Amino acid sequence: MNMHATTHDELATEMGDRFDTDAMAQESTLLNPRFYTTDFDEMDRIDVSPVREEWDKLIGQMKSDPNKGHFKKNEDWDKVDWDGMDPKLKREFIDFLVSSCTAEFSGCVLYKEMKRRGTNKDICELFNYMARDEARHAGFINDALREAGVAVNLGFLTKAKKYTYFRPKFIYYATYLSEKIGYARYITIYRHLEANPDKRFHPIFKWFREWCNDEFSHGEAFALLMRTDPKLTESFTNKLWIRFFLTAVYSTMYVRDHARPEFHKALGVDIDWYDQEVFRKTSEIAKQVFPMELDIDHPRWMPNLKRMETAFRKMEAAEKQGGLGGRLAKLGAMTSAALAFVSIYTIPVKKSTPPASVRLEPAY
Ligand SMILES: [Fe+2]
Ligand SMILES: [Fe+2]
Repeated sequence: MNMHATTHDELATEMGDRFDTDAMAQESTLLNPRFYTTDFDEMDRIDVSPVREEWDKLIGQMKSDPNKGHFKKNEDWDKVDWDGMDPKLKREFIDFLVSSCTAEFSGCVLYKEMKRRGTNKDICELFNYMARDEARHAGFINDALREAGVAVNLGFLTKAKKYTYFRPKFIYYATYLSEKIGYARYITIYRHLEANPDKRFHPIFKWFREWCNDEFSHGEAFALLMRTDPKLTESFTNKLWIRFFLTAVYSTMYVRDHARPEFHKALGVDIDWYDQEVFRKTSEIAKQVFPMELDIDHPRWMPNLKRMETAFRKMEAAEKQGGLGGRLAKLGAMTSAALAFVSIYTIPVKKSTPPASVRLEPAY
């Protein structure tokens, strides 16, 4: 595994004192990237024969490692003026980098564990390549953070972070979505900055195109895994689960992005526009395997996302306030967030039929 950016003790001593990035990365709230564990034996039993042809092609692509030399700083890496950066922007941008790094690394840990525990050649091979990519991604972000005098201590994080157990099928839904949403997020920012290069306030964004192609193929792999067992996407209960995951992942992203107004302002991105754009791309792609998409133009959609976002902000304020008043306020905010979630979850979905051939190529 390529962990060039993470000699742990070295990073620990490099930690800046202004930003407690380890604490930031370690926080396990509903909104922060999580670490997952699953039933690795069950996953090891997956038989990819029903999708063999497409599988071999995808694995062949990953094996050829098109991004092998990509995640290295080169002459395109402009000097970053961290000291001249507006403090609010700096704080949000570091928060963005830390949470992206944590998310990348959380994928790496899960994939590596699957590779380590498995005996199934196909599965181990896939997870090995995906862990390789995620380690590079996390390492590259950490390189960027280090220039700001901070870095996430990834080794420490693996031990300190709480792990959430998900059954394999939930791992498929959640991870598939996070890979595809990752692709959509990176490519949307990349295309936006391609059109508005003056808004590119940090060189890391130049790396996003090849980067998102990795995420795209990881998503493809999960799409193929889901195709090995039609029940996963066709049974009544699983459809409800898919709908749940779509709703949860989208609304989490909305709330999280809105917590970084300065960051998006600096990029010249309207957050509502950006999020809708990412949802639209992700939904379009996800039709390759999910038999539905959320109706993000429904009149209940946006107002309830906003309600949820307000509720989360109130929850945070209530926590800071503490005492009985704080607890009551928090309860009120949680209820409001839950109601907003239910309102979104019950918006009728747009049904669709996934195509016979599951595979897609990145098209945005
Ligand atoms: Fe990644
Ligand atoms: Fe990925």
